Amino acid sequence: MFDGPRWMSRNPNRESLELERQHADLKAAWQQITHEPDERLAECLTRLLAAFEAHFAEEEALMLDTAAPGMDSHIQEHRQTASGLRDLVRAAEAGRYDAVRRAVTNWLSQWYVVHHASLDHALQLWLERCTASASAQAAEPEAADAA
Ligand SMILES: [Fe+2]
Ligand SMILES: [Fe+2]
Repeated sequence: MFDGPRWMSRNPNRESLELERQHADLKAAWQQITHEPDERLAECLTRLLAAFEAHFAEEEALMLDTAAPGMDSHIQEHRQTASGLRDLVRAAEAGRYDAVRRAVTNWLSQWYVVHHASLDHALQLWLERCTASASAQAAEPEAADAA
């Protein structure tokens, strides 16, 4: 199962809120990118890639800490997305600005909707379950003491 004490030390409510804050920030960042001038596109995409990689690393640490079901495919999808974003940085550096904007508007936003509603949502439910289970475990000694 999962490492209860390690998970509880993470403050799960704060972790969940932090992931949702990051999702909102990432969405706002790529929506803004489509309005950036051509000469700033590669730089903004590089920053977006770094923000996505940091977010993915945080989710993956939570998955590993809790032995989350389905983590291999979730992590694999993060890898593919980071790779796609690196391709977009290279395309922006090569001056393919319209193609980059179309990819951000279509590929990235569609990927996000599906990923957020499926794998990230499943992770959120799993973390809630881990929190409830760890809370019950923490309360057990008190119940035993009271008996
Ligand atoms: Fe996410
Ligand atoms: Fe994810």
